Amino acid sequence: MKFYIETYGCQMNVSDSELVSGILLNAGWEQAFAIDDADLILFNTCSVRQHAEDRVLGRIANEKHRKMQNPELKIAVLGCMAQRVGKRLLEKDFGVDFVVGVDQYLQLPELLSQERGMETEFDHFQIYPGLKPVHGDQSCAFVTIMRGCDNFCSYCIVPHVRGRERSVDFEQIVEEVAKCGDNGMKDVTLLGQNVNSYRWGDYNFPRLLLELNKIDSIYRLRFVTSHPKDLSDGLVQAMADCDKVCEHIHLPLQSGSNPVLKAMNRKYTIEHYFGLVEKLRAAIPNISLTTDLIAGFPGETHADFELTLDAMREIRFDYAFCFKYSEREGTAACSFENQVPETERLSRLQEMIDLQREITLEKFSAQVGNEIEVYVESLSKKSVHQVSGKTRDYKIAVLDGDESDIGTLKKARVKSATAGTLIC
Ligand code: 5AD
Ligand code: SF4
Repeated sequence: MKFYIETYGCQMNVSDSELVSGILLNAGWEQAFAIDDADLILFNTCSVRQHAEDRVLGRIANEKHRKMQNPELKIAVLGCMAQRVGKRLLEKDFGVDFVVGVDQYLQLPELLSQERGMETEFDHFQIYPGLKPVHGDQSCAFVTIMRGCDNFCSYCIVPHVRGRERSVDFEQIVEEVAKCGDNGMKDVTLLGQNVNSYRWGDYNFPRLLLELNKIDSIYRLRFVTSHPKDLSDGLVQAMADCDKVCEHIHLPLQSGSNPVLKAMNRKYTIEHYFGLVEKLRAAIPNISLTTDLIAGFPGETHADFELTLDAMREIRFDYAFCFKYSEREGTAACSFENQVPETERLSRLQEMIDLQREITLEKFSAQVGNEIEVYVESLSKKSVHQVSGKTRDYKIAVLDGDESDIGTLKKARVKSATAGTLIC
């Protein structure tokens, strides 16, 4: 029996899909790499915005017809949406046979031996100890170091669907990262909703980085996501001291207005954030900064929104993921009365995107003429004589090369740039 898995949302879901693949392979399933070959289609879903859920429902509706040709075919929904929506996914005529929440993947093989079913119990301690994810044959790896989130930002569904923070055994992480390096995945990203809160015995996140930096088989270490309220001086120092830790940090700002940050329950001010940027830039020259921003949070006035644009101009992020606020049932902000009209959210989002695009283009263009070091990840989509990869500061670069360069570091000179790619 073959399974095919389709993944939506953040890198944590990519990592969870690898975990699920490992669990199913151990249980005797085979992995299908084309949906046509599958006896079981798994959708690993995201709930962070309504749009993400709508897209998956659309995809399931599109694939349901396969059941007419193959009545044995089963469809399973995993991940945050499975956790959030639960049995309603089974009740309605969605064509879904199984619903499995984020803490119940160990039960998956047993559940699949039944006709239909659901497992969405919360297990606040589930960390999948000792399980070996299947990283496939890619050149980069994601390694989960903690799960869950305790922050309860007022807009966010994640703490409601992924439960409380818990960290992975330190030894297990070291072993996993070393194994990735040995298997040709030289660029490793450590994952967690809030990696700065990593704790295992005496080990905090900076100590983990110092330890992983000793692993010879990897070239580069990255991590997501950091919370500005928890970014310590110790972490800034560890980033500066560890030669494998890349000169990049993803530090979600969300808004440039203090009243909005307060209503979002972010627990920092814009002044604190500016201070962090200053510290990071002083300790790590050329560090690139990326962020997440939300347009049209409830109660956000024009003046608040202008403060976010001001912060963007002042900080000049290398890249920003801009989102339109989306109401998530069950979160605090969903019941705030002063919701911003949809058209206004959209126009603010567009303004944000336009401003960031200008800044990103300037940042990328400033690299023209520089020699850069690229970790080659794949063949370029446009030409067989070119390859694509990333710089240490998290910029996509395209350069001359062939398949044999994948998984290696290459030097090249930047000839031109777009707002997303350095062309060498
Ligand atoms: N609406 C819009 N954006 C959201 N995010 C999280 N929840 C919401 C929401 N309800 C964004 C935040 C977060 C990123 C992963 O998704 O910016 O950092
Ligand atoms: Fe959501 Fe805030 Fe936790 Fe990030 S830190 S996952 S935005 S609640």
